[in-house]
Amino acid sequence: MLRSLAIVAAPVLLLAACGPQAPNAGQQTIQGQSMARMRASVDTISAYTKGTASQASAHQAAMELAAWSDRLADLFPPDTAPKQYVDMTADMARAAPAVMRRESANLLAATDSGKPEQTAAALASMRKNGCGACHQTVPY
Ligand code: HEC
Repeated sequence: MLRSLAIVAAPVLLLAACGPQAPNAGQQTIQGQSMARMRASVDTISAYTKGTASQASAHQAAMELAAWSDRLADLFPPDTAPKQYVDMTADMARAAPAVMRRESANLLAATDSGKPEQTAAALASMRKNGCGACHQTVPY
């Protein structure tokens, strides 16, 4: 669903870099950063389910996912996000924050339970329903 995003985003970044005073030139957008951080959190929790990361780090990662979920509505407003990201619809932007909050809460409860199997199931649900609210395929 979001395959052509890079193509759309590139000209915007180039324009931003043109001005003599481009404070954000070359820097990633907060939207891009949010995704990089969420991906890192998913990876950390995945590592916990495989026994290669601590429960404490998985807890921290789940907390971060919950925090980003709370910011999604501001980062991707339903009225403007679809204009910036060709593959994103207003319906997706409207629905995603609540789903991400629910999936994050579920994931946090699972990591806090200290059961890697339960956490793996919650993570699969997060990928499918949470990230999947906007990403058709989630290679993360
Ligand atoms: C609100 C809709 C939405 C949700 C929910 C969402 N994403 Fe994204 N994602 C986007 C958009 C839009 C972009 C493009 C952002 C940009 O480049 O500015 C993106 C980009 C990304 C990228 C960068 C892709 C690339 O090709 O570089 C990663 C990684 C990513 N998302 C991971 C995730 C993960 C992991 C989740 C779930 C925890 C998630 N996303 C949930 C909308 C969403």
